[in-house]
Amino acid sequence: MSANQNTPFTPPVIAIDGPSASGKGTITQLVAAQLGYHYLDSGALYRIVALAAKNNNISWNNEALLAELVEQLDIKFSDNEIYLNNNKVTEKVRSEEIGGGASEVAIHPALRKALVDLQHSFRQAPGLVADGRDMATVIFPDAKLKIFLTATAEVRADRRYKQLAAKNKSADYQKILEDLRQRDTRDQQRSDAPLVQAPDALLLETSNSNIAEAVAFVINAYLANAKSN
Ligand code: DC
Repeated sequence: MSANQNTPFTPPVIAIDGPSASGKGTITQLVAAQLGYHYLDSGALYRIVALAAKNNNISWNNEALLAELVEQLDIKFSDNEIYLNNNKVTEKVRSEEIGGGASEVAIHPALRKALVDLQHSFRQAPGLVADGRDMATVIFPDAKLKIFLTATAEVRADRRYKQLAAKNKSADYQKILEDLRQRDTRDQQRSDAPLVQAPDALLLETSNSNIAEAVAFVINAYLANAKSN
């Protein structure tokens, strides 16, 4: 019997971390689609908790109740839609208010712990591309490829502004920029799993590049990595 037959297959992970509105979600989804891998949007989990807390009148500061709440949530991702307890919540979860709430609930260690197993359950064959803040540092430290994706706050605010304007939603650039900066600071300065570039992550700065270039960078780095292993 060869060694391979005894070693269980652990699906490979590509971990993509970075600040809000850095394009992580779009880039991660496209990389996953090209490779035929599964996709984890870990930020959506924190957003769902923030929304469920709001619906249940639980404060975003109540660490113990937030952690308990996770056990009662039935979360499903299907065809680009997000379902919470069988209700479609995609639009609400993606709102600026709930994004801010996600950043607030995410500071609590007990809540972060309650979400670990759920995140690990996305690691399935043939592989996973996961995006968030602590994918490379905490959740999948053995990821085959780690990317830290970023862009200046001004570029990110401008992209968010244009996205909202394209949907005919009212948007104020200065307010978006301020909110982004506030979220960056909160995500970077919390004590548990702060947003930080893992020492072994590649930096991908996208202020002057487009989505297709970023996707190509990740795929090429992954394939080069696979060849050298
Ligand atoms: O990626 P996003 O904007 O959907 O994330 C919303 C918030 O969730 C973000 O401001 C911080 C939190 N988050 C986190 O703490 N850890 C993750 N892995 C993903 C998101």
